[in-house]
Amino acid sequence: ADEPLVLGIETSCDETGVGIVRGHTLLADAVASSVDDHARYGGVVPEIASRAHLEAMVPTIQRALKEAGVAASDLDGIAVTAGPGLAGALLVGVSAAKAYAYALGKPLYGVNHLASHICVDQLEHGALPEPTMALLVSGGHSSLLLAPDITSDVRPLGSTIDDAAGEAFDKVARVLGLGFPGGPAIDRHARDGDPKAIRFPRGLTGPRDAPYDFSFSGLKTAVARWVEAQRRDGVDVPVADVAASFQEAVVDVLTRKAIRACKENGVDHLMIGGGVAANSRLRSLALERCEDAGIVLRVPRRELCTDNGAMVAALGAEMVARNRPSSTWDLPADSSLPV
Ligand code: KG4
Ligand code: ZN
Repeated sequence: ADEPLVLGIETSCDETGVGIVRGHTLLADAVASSVDDHARYGGVVPEIASRAHLEAMVPTIQRALKEAGVAASDLDGIAVTAGPGLAGALLVGVSAAKAYAYALGKPLYGVNHLASHICVDQLEHGALPEPTMALLVSGGHSSLLLAPDITSDVRPLGSTIDDAAGEAFDKVARVLGLGFPGGPAIDRHARDGDPKAIRFPRGLTGPRDAPYDFSFSGLKTAVARWVEAQRRDGVDVPVADVAASFQEAVVDVLTRKAIRACKENGVDHLMIGGGVAANSRLRSLALERCEDAGIVLRVPRRELCTDNGAMVAALGAEMVARNRPSSTWDLPADSSLPV
């Protein structure tokens, strides 16, 4: 049987992503990012993101079709991120998807951004076993999700009660003067540092705390206070040690809770997705702890972890393969779409 050929559009934040997949095979992954336009503001500016999506949309779709070497008329469907994300940014993608689907006479599939972060791993490691446990960590979200069915049943077990993990990386990077986005810079500096140099707090790890929720704002404040105290005393800030110690505090909690969730729910597969999954220490500690616990770890390669269109196409293809109903033409862009 022919595997479904699907084009996916992602515009929930600052990346205009258009991907094309056939089943579990990635054919094209075109991404135009407006990240440089936001750098001087230290964070994503929604209005700038929407405008950049509008300008990049059609050229990125054309680039993906060319890269995949397929004709738009051969597509089995068009998938698009319907939420959650920035309202104006989502609207650009949803409108474009409707226009192409309607003009081409193809079914439209509105998909959830978090579910597609999980499903993208099929492009790397083949069919996802179900149920799968997923730890999604990015600039906008930090969640533990149990997925008995990736197309229709993804259950949130817990999430951050304040900052997202990536947000904490970005804010600490700013305190250290490392620029935006901060995650990759912290990751780099941490390689030369001692993760045990400073013992920063691990949020929500007490016996009475919610087992699957995260909190990173106390950690962020602790790092900022520590750095300020050094500066006040006229001491040079040991950037590598601070980066390594902060990073260790984040990934220690993330991996500990993810593995606990697997064990308590009888799940033997853990996937990690979202931009922070690119973090080298998160990958190594998760691997170590999964091996100890007899859990199979699945982490897609970096380009597939950050926001992209291929992940949307991957979930769209899965919906086509499982004969899930397509969306209607009044599909809304929903900034707070639940999984
Ligand atoms: O998934 P993503 O591209 O966009 C969304 O937020 O949805 O994630 C971006 C986030 C940023 O906060 C960035 O600092 C973080 O992922 N990030 C990292 C690394 N690479 C990207 N955080 C830690 N270590 C990294 N290597
Ligand atoms: Zn994302």
